[in-house]
Amino acid sequence: MGYKINDELIERIRDTIDIVDVVSRYVNLRKTGSNYVGLCPFHNEKTPSFTVSETKNLFHCFGCGEGGDLITFIMKKENLSFVESIKFLADMYNIPVDISDNSSYSEAKKEKEKIYKINREAGLFYFYNLRKSPKPLRYLKDRNINENIMTKFGLGYASDSWNQIYNYLRSKGFEDKDIEKSGLISRKKDNTGYYDKFVNRVIFPIIDIKDRIIGFGGRVLDDRKPKYLNSPDTPVFEKGKNLFGLNIVHKNSNREKIILVEGYMDVISLYNYGIDYAVASLGTAFTQYQARLLKRYGKNIYICYDSDDAGIKATLKALNILEKEEAEPRVIMLPDNLDPDDFIKKYGLEEFKNLESNALSSIDYRIYILRQKYSLNRAEEKIKFIKEVAAIIKALKSPVEREIYINRIASETNISKEAIEREVLGNLYKPSITIYKDKYINGKIRNNKNEITPVKTVLESAHLTAEKNLVGLMMKSRSYYDMVKKHINKEDFLNYECKAIADIIYNEYENNPLLAKLDIQTLMSRLEKEDNIDFEIVKEVAELDIVAEDMEKLIRDLIKTINYFKLKMERKLVANRIKQLDYKKDKEKGDVEELKRLCIRLTELDKELKLHI
Ligand code: UTP
Ligand code: MN
Repeated sequence: MGYKINDELIERIRDTIDIVDVVSRYVNLRKTGSNYVGLCPFHNEKTPSFTVSETKNLFHCFGCGEGGDLITFIMKKENLSFVESIKFLADMYNIPVDISDNSSYSEAKKEKEKIYKINREAGLFYFYNLRKSPKPLRYLKDRNINENIMTKFGLGYASDSWNQIYNYLRSKGFEDKDIEKSGLISRKKDNTGYYDKFVNRVIFPIIDIKDRIIGFGGRVLDDRKPKYLNSPDTPVFEKGKNLFGLNIVHKNSNREKIILVEGYMDVISLYNYGIDYAVASLGTAFTQYQARLLKRYGKNIYICYDSDDAGIKATLKALNILEKEEAEPRVIMLPDNLDPDDFIKKYGLEEFKNLESNALSSIDYRIYILRQKYSLNRAEEKIKFIKEVAAIIKALKSPVEREIYINRIASETNISKEAIEREVLGNLYKPSITIYKDKYINGKIRNNKNEITPVKTVLESAHLTAEKNLVGLMMKSRSYYDMVKKHINKEDFLNYECKAIADIIYNEYENNPLLAKLDIQTLMSRLEKEDNIDFEIVKEVAELDIVAEDMEKLIRDLIKTINYFKLKMERKLVANRIKQLDYKKDKEKGDVEELKRLCIRLTELDKELKLHI
């Protein structure tokens, strides 16, 4: 083999790649206790005895005895050598195989280990310090937090001193530069020494799923500002990539649901009442990365932010971020400006569960919020309301859902369904043409016999509309055709009619250099040779009347839409094929090769799809 594999690369692969993630590509895993189980891919079985431990990074089958780490897993599953498996995994997870890229890795790792140690010492110190400090103990007791909960979350106390933790960590033999990197102390402005970051605060350690303290939050005991301080980002702590409470969810939860709340105290208080599946983003805006974490830890995702204005804004943002990850979050709405901590203390677990089961879908929530914003008995406010709601409905992918909401808003506002429909479509189209008729959306997609096109899929409406619009535009002017053909081949059109029309358009323009536009008559006469054409669609496309301020931008957007759906379809095909091959009992050598190729392609596609968002 031509690759050079060194220990650092191997270590890096074992450190950064999650075995559950790898195995999940081959086996349907289910969480039970602290492990995952599934049907063993190495022998035939009907009840799962194949176990994966995420914390140990190992798998084992109690049926056939196979076992090992993620590299062994790939060796066996893909029938590859050790070195090939390393390369395979590195490819899949974008880890550079070039040794020079890895050389600083073990240095960084050593640095991290030191910070984990410092954090652990500090956490323990704060923890014991709390036990002998009446003031914070009283404070926590007043907030309903008992000894058990304190221990469960490792709560602590930083005394009213500017060098308590610094002195303690020095006495434990740590050096200034390392303590500074942990973010527990800051350098004085005049450079004469250090002072503690957390002073006279209750300490909330932030713990990762491997039970390491990665940072701290600290709350004042009174009304002083700032109410909370958090560790700065350090080599072991990136706020946007962690969630407070994830360690608990990781251990306890069956992954059915997860609740995102705003604060440390919300997580703790909910836990106190028996809800052990809440996490908080850490005093920063919720990130895409955190959205992925939520998805991983909960089939059902709930947002339960404070019900004040800031909370509503943050909820809307978090909904957007989660939807980009194709999650379907719901919103638990709290009354009277309460936060989850206040609410559950006041009304108890049952009431909270009640709210949870009445959580609103993201669209219902958005519409609800808009309804609060506008007073619907004033005409101009009603117009604004409808315009904003229309924008929300427009974003819905399913035509059925769209229809339901259009009907609902129509009856609620007493505005005709047609008017709202038009609002949803925007002013792109003449009123006489209704693009979103169901029969078009369910339009037929037939396989062209000569080509491998995706199997009979019903195109998503945005995709179909984009195809129709592009084809319509290309007919109108060669300049539009020139713009489109640079990015899209005629084979890329998937709707049967659009594909047939595109075929004619491309041929006509290429064969007649002087042709400025393609008229309907020519199109119709060419189409006569084709079978099974739905002329209603053709007519609709040919008569499309598109007005746009910036036509080039419109065309660019349409092209983007088509490319996006193309990638999505390919992803579906690849994923299906992987499943298919995986179910095959006796895999041939070719199958293994293909699987390997497909897995890599799947990763590529996911990356490309992300860029499109
Ligand atoms: P809140 O101000 O809503 O406080 O901040 P809370 O969670 O209700 O706190 P209690 O109940 O008064 O103790 C929500 C979260 O925002 C971050 C913290 O993570 C906090 O838990 N925050 C808040 C800060 O980082 N700094 C602040 O000064 C305030
Ligand atoms: Mn609170």
